[in-house]
Amino acid sequence: MLEKIKATATFISEIVKKPVDAGIILGSGLGGLVSEIEIERTIPYSEIPDFPVSTVDGHSGKLIFGKLAGKNVLAMQGRFHYYEGYSMKEVTFPVRVMKMMGINTLFVSNASGGLNPDFKVGDVVLITDHINFFPEHPLRGKNLNELGPRFPDMSKSYDEHLRNKAKAIALKNGISLKEGVYVGVSGPTFETPAEYLMFRHLGADLVGMSTVPEVIVARHMNMTVFGISIVTDSGVPGQIVEISHEEVQEAAMKAEPNMTMILKELVAGL
Ligand code: HPA
Repeated sequence: MLEKIKATATFISEIVKKPVDAGIILGSGLGGLVSEIEIERTIPYSEIPDFPVSTVDGHSGKLIFGKLAGKNVLAMQGRFHYYEGYSMKEVTFPVRVMKMMGINTLFVSNASGGLNPDFKVGDVVLITDHINFFPEHPLRGKNLNELGPRFPDMSKSYDEHLRNKAKAIALKNGISLKEGVYVGVSGPTFETPAEYLMFRHLGADLVGMSTVPEVIVARHMNMTVFGISIVTDSGVPGQIVEISHEEVQEAAMKAEPNMTMILKELVAGL
C-alpha cells in the first residue's frame, strides 16, 4: 500500500514539477472553482497509476494543477464515493498521495441536505465537525505507522484558524456563512424523513455522502483540513420534498460562486 502511495505521488510530482501549497477536493456540481485556476497540467485519473478506475458512466475525473490566487494547488475534479462501490482505501487513496507529495493543507467541498431548521437551500456552511456514519472505517486494518498513529485524535479535525479566516472573508464580502456538524452516510439513497430526523437528533446540521473518509485519512496524517458545504435540499420536517441528483447539482451550482470566493481568498492567505 505504502509503495503504491509513494509511486503515485512520484508520478504526479514529476508531472507538476513544483511544490504544491494545497490540495482541493471539489464536490458534485462544485467544479466551478476550476475556472479560477490558471491551469498548468490536467491529468485524467485514468492515466494515474493505481488511481481507482471510474465505475460511473461519464464521470471521468481529473486532477487539475495550477495557480489559484498565486498559490500552487492540486484540485480533484470529481471524487470517489463509497456508494459507487469503491473501498474506503480507494476513496481515500488520493488524499494519501497528496500528503506523500508534501501537501499539508486540504480543502474539501460538498453538497448536503440541511437538517438544521435555520438552514435554507443555497446556504454555504462551514463544517465545524463531523459524525462518521459510514459502515466501514477508512483506517480499519493494519496501521501504516509511516503515515500516522494507530488511534488518531479527532478532537480538532476542522482547522479553527482557517474557519475564523473564512468567517472574516464572508463578512467582508457580504456572504452569509452558517456553521454546522456534517454526518457522512454511505448513500446512495437520500434519507427518509425518519432518517433525517434521526440525524438531527444525533447532533448533525448537515447530511451527505462524502467528505468524512477523506477527512479522517487527512487527519491521520496530520494535514490541516478545511471543509465547506452547500445545502442543496432540506431534511427539516415539513420542508422535505422529493429530490433528484440533478436538483442537488443545480442547487449546488447556484450557490457555488459564494463558496468559490471563500476558498479562493483562503488559499490566497496560505
Ligand atoms: N442526503 C444525503 N446526501 C446529500 C443530500 C441529502 O439530502 N443532499 C446532497 N447530498
